Amino acid sequence: MDVTVSRKAHFNAAHRLYNKNWSDQENSSEFGKCSNPNYHGHNYELIVNITGKINDVTGYVYDLGKLKNLIKVEIEDRLDHKNLNLDVKYFSEINPTAENICVYIYNLLRKKIEDDFKISVILFETPRNFVKYPAD
Ligand code: NI
Repeated sequence: MDVTVSRKAHFNAAHRLYNKNWSDQENSSEFGKCSNPNYHGHNYELIVNITGKINDVTGYVYDLGKLKNLIKVEIEDRLDHKNLNLDVKYFSEINPTAENICVYIYNLLRKKIEDDFKISVILFETPRNFVKYPAD
């Protein structure tokens, strides 16, 4: 019997979406306000889901205190109050869209959570726009 446990987290970060091979005009028509050359911020909300069996001894699927700490060290310390394009090397060549940030977060956590667990990440860029990886 599999059960999913989840933890919410939060970080603020700035970004700019653009393709360096395009003119400002082309970037603006593709990415709108998100291509503002002087960057802009988002209040990102994050949900990390971990699915697995309930441990007979602890009654936990996964210790949410441990997950809280993992998210702090692996995600918040890396991304909170950062300019994603300039401060996070991964995004120097990859557009920091919600999609790409979500995959980046997943890959960091995947390395730290044992393979017996399935994980997924939902990232809200705004209260209405959010992405999920892996896809359903
Ligand atoms: Ni944006």
